[in-house]
Amino acid sequence: MRVLLTGGMGFIGSHIAIVLNELGYDLVIIDNLSNSNISTLKNLNKLMSKKINFFKVDLLDKKNLGKIFQKFTFDAVIHLASFKSVSKSVETPLKYYENNLVGTLNLINEMLLNKVNTIVFSSSATVYGNAKISPIKEDAVTKPINPYGEIKLNIEKFLEYICISNKNFTCISLRYFNPVGAHSSGFIGENPLDIPNNLMPIIINVALKKQKILKIFGNNYETKDGTGVRDFIHVMDVAEGHSNALNYVQNKKGYFTFNLGTGKGVSVLELKNAFESFCSIKIPYEFKSRRLGDVPIMYADVNKAKKELNWEAKRNLEEICLSGWKHKLILNK
Ligand code: WQD
Repeated sequence: MRVLLTGGMGFIGSHIAIVLNELGYDLVIIDNLSNSNISTLKNLNKLMSKKINFFKVDLLDKKNLGKIFQKFTFDAVIHLASFKSVSKSVETPLKYYENNLVGTLNLINEMLLNKVNTIVFSSSATVYGNAKISPIKEDAVTKPINPYGEIKLNIEKFLEYICISNKNFTCISLRYFNPVGAHSSGFIGENPLDIPNNLMPIIINVALKKQKILKIFGNNYETKDGTGVRDFIHVMDVAEGHSNALNYVQNKKGYFTFNLGTGKGVSVLELKNAFESFCSIKIPYEFKSRRLGDVPIMYADVNKAKKELNWEAKRNLEEICLSGWKHKLILNK
């Protein structure tokens, strides 16, 4: 089976590439390298049995996107190419709507023209917005509170309408919670080009003394220790969820949505403490006021993916902390 991986040089995409390559898929990766770099390709090829076809293509570049579909016949597309910073989406909504939404419209247009009828879409738990309850089920109210989450939900709804209008088309939207960690080799991991604003890369930056102190946003939430609670899931578990999703759609038509999380809530302080104890490194921190747009508690109900995708997260906090830390040590050697 040949799969097109858009955004395949990014954090999640590169890990999906490893999992699918090991399963014998033929992969073509397109990426505009706006938040990833070409060194990932070198590292991926170190881990791959089959060479990957990589093309630097932007989804807004219709001409070169079309050339990819003329050059290859795809059985499915896994669509990850997207800007992903919540705060940046608030500052520059036009850039986010153009890149994430228009880019997806161009991709779907090419798929329909070339009768590629299967897409696995990289969605996000941010579509739930200020979820009042956790664990959160897929049929919970979706009320995003920022442009990033709004666009992810718009794309989900658009893909559902494509499945209604075209009975041959199948889409699975996978709602990621908080992907963290790295491949066990340490060769690939989370390396945002821009300043990270996610918790785990910041903890690691403090460990590397690239940042003096971890600022914990809010310690007066109604949670076990007053700090925010999230569903931190190992990126390899997220990646494996995509191969289960491809298997699931082999004999299905229509639109489907699944949470990809661990089903367990871990607080900011708990993650910091776990990193300190597993990596034997002190992480200096201070409490600051709450961050705008943060929800107090957000973790997944994972029963649907467990039952229908035959998938569940297997890796624990220790593997998350040690793998993320190993990757950074190798990178900064
Ligand atoms: C987690 C917790 C912060 C940084 C993100 C993306 C979202 C989605 C999921 C892609 C919160 C606290 C953080 C820091 C802190 N990814 N925190 N100090 O906001 O849950 O969502 O991942 O789809 O797009 O935004 O993740 O890591 O930013 O925050 O205290 O320096 O860590 O307040 O409670 P979030 P996060």
